[in-house]
Amino acid sequence: MLKIKNLHAQVDDKDILKGIDLEIKAGEIHAIMGPNGSGKSTLASVITGKEEYEMTEGEILFENEELDEVSPEERAHKGIFMSFQYPIEIPGITTTNFIKTAINETRKARGQNDMSAKDMLKMLREKCDLLDIDQKFLSRSINEGFSGGEKKRNEIFQMAMLEPKLAILDETDSGLDIDALKIVANGVNKLKSEDNAVMVITHYQRLLDHIVPDYVHVLFDGKIVKSGGKELAFELEKKGYDWIKEEIK
Ligand SMILES: Nc1ncnc2c1ncn2[C@@H]1O[C@H](COP(=O)(O)OP(=O)(O)OP(=O)(O)O)[C@@H](O)[C@H]1O
Ligand SMILES: [Mg+2]
Repeated sequence: MLKIKNLHAQVDDKDILKGIDLEIKAGEIHAIMGPNGSGKSTLASVITGKEEYEMTEGEILFENEELDEVSPEERAHKGIFMSFQYPIEIPGITTTNFIKTAINETRKARGQNDMSAKDMLKMLREKCDLLDIDQKFLSRSINEGFSGGEKKRNEIFQMAMLEPKLAILDETDSGLDIDALKIVANGVNKLKSEDNAVMVITHYQRLLDHIVPDYVHVLFDGKIVKSGGKELAFELEKKGYDWIKEEIK
């Protein structure tokens, strides 16, 4: 699904990613860990095509298509979803309307008609049930006055509705409490299938107790310095990043 080869990227002419190779296949969950400032969020932003991040070398293939010339919107339409890609608060726009628009934009880009009101309602209900969300929540302005956990729930709900092929969840800066962690984990687990893939960026081994990754990668100074199974997350928790520093010397 996603193939990254020798990816180098800059922000403000500063090299941040320094040669990343990563392959994510359908049906897999990959966790990205690593110390603050190692480039995790940058990697996510480069994959989704955020403008201030410049790819200087290498390639990113999504379903065998080079993404370099593909706009962030088109990437979303192709099925790449990233959490936190939306403005924090949008007063006056309900969660339902926001999601309807996003879904129909994607359908339009794929040459399909708008989803019927009936189908939309059915899907909204199904996903609310699946994620245990009170439907009243959907008529509130998006993110306005939402607690951290509610924002998280909203994001997972958006993901459920958009049914992305690749979901990138950057949990790093969100100060998740244990309930929010569970919301994310349950959502991901319920939406997981053989046809989609998830990349989850986290500092917390405990998130990985709930979302069991197939692979864990450690990013350090813009490179993936170690990859392994879920046991790598435990090892990191126990030994800290100094251990990695020693290992790569
Ligand atoms: N928009 C930007 N402008 C300037 N510098 C940036 C920008 N985005 C990232 N950087 C720099 O790139 C480096 C990597 O940042 P990044 O956010 O990718 O790290 P991270 O691994 O996600 O860290 P954390 O665990 O703290 O979230 C940092 O030195 C950061 O200051
Ligand atoms: Mg980050």
